[in-house]
Amino acid sequence: TKRGYDHFMLKEIHEQPHAVRQSIQGRIPDSREYVALDEFEPGEFDDVRDVQFVACGTSYHAALYARQFLLDRGIPSNVHSAGEYATNPPPLEEDTLVIGVTQSGETADTLASLRYAQAAGARTLAVTNVVGSTAAREFDDALFIRAGPEIGVAATKTFSSQVVTLALLSEVLTRDRTGSYSDQLDTLLAGLQALPDQFESLLGTNEVSHLLESYRGQDAYFFIGRAEGYPVALEGALKFKEITYEHAEGFAAGELKHGPLALVGPKTPVFAVFTGRNVEKTLGNVQEVKARGAPVIGITHQDHDKVTAVVDDVLPIPAAAPCLRGLLANVQLQLVSYHVADALGRDIDKPRNLAKSVTVE
Ligand code: M6R
Repeated sequence: TKRGYDHFMLKEIHEQPHAVRQSIQGRIPDSREYVALDEFEPGEFDDVRDVQFVACGTSYHAALYARQFLLDRGIPSNVHSAGEYATNPPPLEEDTLVIGVTQSGETADTLASLRYAQAAGARTLAVTNVVGSTAAREFDDALFIRAGPEIGVAATKTFSSQVVTLALLSEVLTRDRTGSYSDQLDTLLAGLQALPDQFESLLGTNEVSHLLESYRGQDAYFFIGRAEGYPVALEGALKFKEITYEHAEGFAAGELKHGPLALVGPKTPVFAVFTGRNVEKTLGNVQEVKARGAPVIGITHQDHDKVTAVVDDVLPIPAAAPCLRGLLANVQLQLVSYHVADALGRDIDKPRNLAKSVTVE
């Protein structure tokens, strides 16, 4: 049931503190000196030389976020759209680890990609929410994100749980590859432990509603970000188009000037995600769109005067560990999409033309 919420999506947005608590439950020891992912033996990924993620939609964005965790630990990886990978796969070796990220565990393109990788002799790992799913059963390993059932077609809490679980996995891969956890281990684990309460405090305020009136009926909505803010920008735009049916696009902030800027004007609000990284560069991009008359909504932690001085509106987030701020920014963007869709009277839990899991290639 919706337990008092108007839509499953809103209920699931509000379940994120709990979902994330479940995701980390028993996986972070009090000492924060190691990661307890009992699914894997220490050294299990010793011989992995190449990491490839395959996923679709929101799970693809979670994989992009995970790529950032690996990048910050000196481990390169590639993220592939599963629909492309299955039909146009990159070279694979036995020491390639292919990680399929799929909430439902039933997405046909993701399953096809993992099957291809398995047949080619690569190591396969499914990161999923559904214990009895095809993905959980068919491949070398399964890692569960434990978000609890998600009914709304728009993925919300599963994105958060995917990112949190993949953050833990990034440390396991680092340990096996380099012989020790990264020097960011304690910061990451402390950040993850603090995250559920930060979600709660964010969800306890309602900063979004005042924005709705001013930003209704625009030509298009753009979302920009860098580093972990980039997948969040893509995810913000996907959610927005999926449930409001308005035109929304997400870009890496640096890409704006390579084409999208031609569309920017007073009727294209720009949501700019700030995580604390590359702030000056993103502010430069904000200036570019403001010069063309676009209103800018900055998603940033409260005391970030540099940002708040420049943008037209602020959606504040708690000052979490920088690598996790994208998750909090994402919650604000989920709420934006939800409330705009609600004001437009959309069928939020069952948007037109879409299914919860896409079981055809
Ligand atoms: O079950 P999966 O994680 O494999 O699903 C992948 C996408 O179909 C899914 O994330 C889709 O993009 C969502 N409806 C977006 O909200």
